[in-house]
Amino acid sequence: MDNIAGPPVEGDNFFGREADINTLRELLEHHDLLLLGPRRIGKTSIARALMRVMREAGWRVVEINVATCDDERAFVEKLETALRQETASLGDKLWDSVGTSLNAIRARIQVIRIPVPGAGSLGVELRAAPTKDWATVASELVALIAGLDQRWLIYVDELPIMLLTRIIRGDPTTGVERVRRFLDWFRNDVRGLPGAARVRWLVSGSIGLDTLVQQHAMADTINTLRQVTLPPFSEPEVIAMLDRLGARYGLALAAADATALLAGIQWLQPYYVQLAFSELRGLLAAQPGAAPGTLIDATIEQVAQSAAYNDFHHWEKRLADQLAPATAGHARALLGQAAATREGARVELLLATLAERLPNATAEEVQRLFVDLRDILLRDGYWGANEDAEGRRYRFLLEPLRRWWLRRNTP
Ligand SMILES: Nc1ncnc2c1ncn2[C@@H]1O[C@H](COP(=O)(O)OP(=O)(O)OP(=O)(O)O)[C@@H](O)[C@H]1O
Ligand SMILES: [Mg+2]
Repeated sequence: MDNIAGPPVEGDNFFGREADINTLRELLEHHDLLLLGPRRIGKTSIARALMRVMREAGWRVVEINVATCDDERAFVEKLETALRQETASLGDKLWDSVGTSLNAIRARIQVIRIPVPGAGSLGVELRAAPTKDWATVASELVALIAGLDQRWLIYVDELPIMLLTRIIRGDPTTGVERVRRFLDWFRNDVRGLPGAARVRWLVSGSIGLDTLVQQHAMADTINTLRQVTLPPFSEPEVIAMLDRLGARYGLALAAADATALLAGIQWLQPYYVQLAFSELRGLLAAQPGAAPGTLIDATIEQVAQSAAYNDFHHWEKRLADQLAPATAGHARALLGQAAATREGARVELLLATLAERLPNATAEEVQRLFVDLRDILLRDGYWGANEDAEGRRYRFLLEPLRRWWLRRNTP
C-alpha cells in the first residue's frame, strides 16, 4: 500500500471500508444514493471500489465527473459519452440495437436549448431552430439503457459543484429554477421511466447539496435520494493501516507512538492518517536516526501547516459557497470560538456570540439560527458535541484543522 495523500486511491492502495461498501451495495438494490462529505474523506475512492464490486456482480457501471459541466446540455453530453463507451462493450448484437438510437440522441443533444442568462425572451427567440428541452433528451437516454436487460450504476461525481457554481452562480436570473428542474428530473422524470429500477444513481460531492436545497426551499427535490456518509475509521483500523504503511516504508511505529499520532489527528479519516504518515516520513528523512516517537508533535503541527495552502481553505470556502454571506460570517464566528481550545466552546458562549452579532434579534431568533448552523456544522464534519458535568460543548473534530483555524483567526 502506497502512502498517497490527495488523489483517489484504488486497488491495493484502498484500505478498509469493507463494511461501508457492503452497506452501499445493499442500499443500491432499492435506492439511489447521495454521498456528501467534506473534501478528501474518500468519496471518489469508495465509489470506485463500489463500482468494481457491482461490476463483478454483473452490473454495468459508468462514472461521470460533472464539475466542469457549464449547463444541462454538457451534463447530458457527458452522460451520453459514458454510456456509449459502456454499451460499446455489450457485444455486437446489443450494440447494434442501441448504437443507432444513441446516434439519434446525440444529434438531439446538439439542439438542446439552454436559457441564456439575463437575455430575457428575446435571447431565446434569437436561438430559433428546432430545439429540445434537455430533460426530454436526457430521459430518452436513460430510457434507452433502462430498456436493456441489464442493471446499471451511474456514478455522478461533483454534481453539487455543477448545480451551485455553474448554474446558480452562472445564471442569477433563472439558475435556481433550473436547479429545481434538474433535481425534479432526477426525482420524477427518471423514476417514472419504464425499467427505471434497473438504473441506480450514486451522486456525490463535497459541497452540501442538502444545505443548498434547504437554502433555496427545495429540500423536497432530493428526498428520494438516500443520504449516506463516510464515518471515520476506528482506532484499530487506523493502527492496522499504519502497520501496512509502516511495512511498505520500513517505518514501524511503537504502539504508544501510533496512539499519540491518532490523538493528534482526532478525526480518523484515512486522508489525515496518510497526510500525517507522509509528514512523519519527511521529518525522519530530514533527521535520520531520530526516534519516530520524538517527532509526533512536530508531525501534527506539520499537518496543520502543510495542508494550509491547499486543503484547509476549502473548509472555509465551503461555508461561503453554501450559505448567504451574513450567515457564513456567523458560522465562521462560531467556529472561531470553538477553535480557541481543544475542548471546544460551551453552548452558552456560542449563543452569546451570535446574540452580539444580531443586536436586533429576539432570543428565540438567535436560538433558531444557532440550531440551524449547529446542525450544518455537525453534518459537514466541522465540529462534534461533547457533554460533560458542566454542560455541552462543541469542538472541532479534526485537531489540525482547529489549529489552522485558530491561527487564521488570530491577528
Ligand atoms: N479507503 C482508503 N484507504 C486509504 N486512503 C484513503 C482511503 N479513502 C481515502 N483515502 C485518502 O483520502 C484521499 C482522498 O480520497 P478521495 O479523492 O477519494 O476523496 P474525495 O472525498 O473524493 O475528495 P474530493 O472531495 O477532494 O473529491 C486519498 O488520496 C487518500 O489519501
Ligand atoms: Mg472526489
